Amino acid sequence: MDTLASPSETQKTCLSAKQSSRTIGLVPTMGYLHEGHLALVRRARAENDLVVVSIFVNPTQFGPAEDLERYPRDLVRDLALLTEENVDVVFTPDVSGMYPEQPATFVEVPGVSEVLCGASRPGHFRGVASVVTKLFNIVQPDRSYFGQKDYQQTIVIRKMVRDLNIPVQIIICPTVRESDGLAMSSRNSLLGPHDRVKASQLILALKKGEAALLNGERDPLRVAGAIRGLLAETREIFVDYIEVVDAEDLKKKSGISDKDRVLLALAVRIGGVRLIDNLVVNVSS
Ligand code: PAF
Repeated sequence: MDTLASPSETQKTCLSAKQSSRTIGLVPTMGYLHEGHLALVRRARAENDLVVVSIFVNPTQFGPAEDLERYPRDLVRDLALLTEENVDVVFTPDVSGMYPEQPATFVEVPGVSEVLCGASRPGHFRGVASVVTKLFNIVQPDRSYFGQKDYQQTIVIRKMVRDLNIPVQIIICPTVRESDGLAMSSRNSLLGPHDRVKASQLILALKKGEAALLNGERDPLRVAGAIRGLLAETREIFVDYIEVVDAEDLKKKSGISDKDRVLLALAVRIGGVRLIDNLVVNVSS
């Protein structure tokens, strides 16, 4: 496994793989890897000749009051895990390598970026779309792998790739969960033991919303109310948002029809840690 910090060296390695007609799969991460990341890596390994994993905690997607400094990091452990997975290249740039000068060029994906997480994290998806574009330009992958846990991110990136004709296939893999249903996330490591127990309510609340939909509830406000009601049973889960939106364009729905594919999405704070989760429901099923 090659560990490369230099964007130009990584680009050279990837271009030479492409010249010998090897396919490239990219798994972009911010490190502190868990089974969710490893599921993406395994899928990339199964589908490509060269697997590249990037590890970069991208400052431009964090707001000034957010947890950039606190974001968990453990490169030694990450590299050991990726060696086990038979990864070919780990790209580990530092901030000055990725942003040698103040950037003037950004990628914005309006429409799908300001809602849900974008409403409380202004500029977040601009940072994500811009850094993912840079990673695509450096690695030039045939396929890139993202987890459904960050559902809005996958919608933003898919739209960006379509709008800009970026020649990469975006592959979304299912959320990997702990045994009690908590969606795996690097931020889970920041939860204290009591807060960790509270966090297991998130999936139960989403399932309550799903059950309401599948039992015939067609008013999005009432579906959101079912989710909120369950979360309200646990003290000190602070809701940022609970939304019931169209799963394709993230637009709010005034009513739900039997043919709809609906996203139930939430963001909360527990013990100062921001957690997100979602379920996609095919209403007809
Ligand atoms: O999902 C993440 O870890 C990040 O948003 C990503 C895609 C690596 C961009 O920094």
